[in-house]
Amino acid sequence: MTRRSKDKELRLTRRAILGGAAAAAAASTFPAPFVLAQPAKIKLGLMLPYSGTYAALGNNIADALILAINEKGGKLGGREVQYVKLDDESEPAKGAQNANKLVVGEKVDILIGTVHSGVAAAMVQVVREEGTPLLIPNAGVGDATGKLCAPNIFRTSFSNWQPGYPMGKVAAEMGHKNAVSITWKYAAGEESVQGFKDGFATGGGKVTHDLRVPFPDVEFQALLTEIASIKPDCVYTFFAGGGAVKFVKDYDAAGLKKSIPLYGPGFLTDGTLKAQGASAEGLLTTLHYVEDLKNPVNDKFKTAFQKATSRPVDVYAVQGYDTGQVLVHGLAAVKGDVKAKKEFYAAMKSFKVPSPRGEWTFSKSQNPVQDFYLRKVVNGENRYQKVAVKALAEPTAACKMA
Ligand code: BEZ
Repeated sequence: MTRRSKDKELRLTRRAILGGAAAAAAASTFPAPFVLAQPAKIKLGLMLPYSGTYAALGNNIADALILAINEKGGKLGGREVQYVKLDDESEPAKGAQNANKLVVGEKVDILIGTVHSGVAAAMVQVVREEGTPLLIPNAGVGDATGKLCAPNIFRTSFSNWQPGYPMGKVAAEMGHKNAVSITWKYAAGEESVQGFKDGFATGGGKVTHDLRVPFPDVEFQALLTEIASIKPDCVYTFFAGGGAVKFVKDYDAAGLKKSIPLYGPGFLTDGTLKAQGASAEGLLTTLHYVEDLKNPVNDKFKTAFQKATSRPVDVYAVQGYDTGQVLVHGLAAVKGDVKAKKEFYAAMKSFKVPSPRGEWTFSKSQNPVQDFYLRKVVNGENRYQKVAVKALAEPTAACKMA
């Protein structure tokens, strides 16, 4: 018998045995304790945008999270994992209903999500009532780890204020004195601009005009004309995903790029560069990740993610991966017992996350304390320039953890 046919036979034999055992168990005369019970699967609810402006962000988060768990054998605390995916469409009006579908309907053990701050705000309300653990792998809405912080709510990404603040500092250091802000009119945009304003003010800078478009509109022409007439020293903008692609191209096409520097948090140029082409060349942004960071975790992650998905990494993939790492660590500490909440939360909170972005820790409000990098688009890639602010925590005064 060849090695191959022997292997096949072994597999068949094993299946036959398992099948036989199942049949025997069904018709068993043994009392129940003799039937070995498998621990039930851990149910993870992945509530993310899989369609619309933020679809690419949601897909990268989900795929990288699953990658992190698969790298550890595909189990959490020794238990198999069942993923329940739900497309939230970045639609805040459906946020509570969708979160309830997973928490109350599907009875997920842990809820993961989401990208859009308005949807995340609804998820926070649901888990504060139901007590389900929530890990936020992107949405930066300040209240989630601010005035609505809670022991069961963790964020593995950033608060919206965080990436804006270092960009404001850098703009001030470059000698700019006044700026115009332009963004979508919702929490992510408003809070990001507040971060920029606070950083800019440290060097005496002031934002003189705040221009807004409704989410997810991408009609920028009238506002670009207004910017041209204001002639500020610089422009600060928050757009991400499909909106960032359109804005960067329109800013360039309007002739503004060569006369008024455009700055933003790194979402402006993350996962978007191919579509933005030459319009993005030279843009400066600040973020907690850049692809060319030199560390072994980043090297390994870039290769593994590309291999698993055939896509390059971006900040959203990193955040998904870290969410997976935090879950692996937290559930190993309680051997998969999600009901041991106190110990589960304590293990996650004290974890020093070995991330592709560089090691980070959780603040007392359960939001990352992490380095922010200044990046520049060179030849179609975001390139590391320097650490803009080291170990930056969000302002945590609003969080009164019960
Ligand atoms: C937000 O809504 O919080 C968000 C969306 C995309 C990128 C960054 C933040």
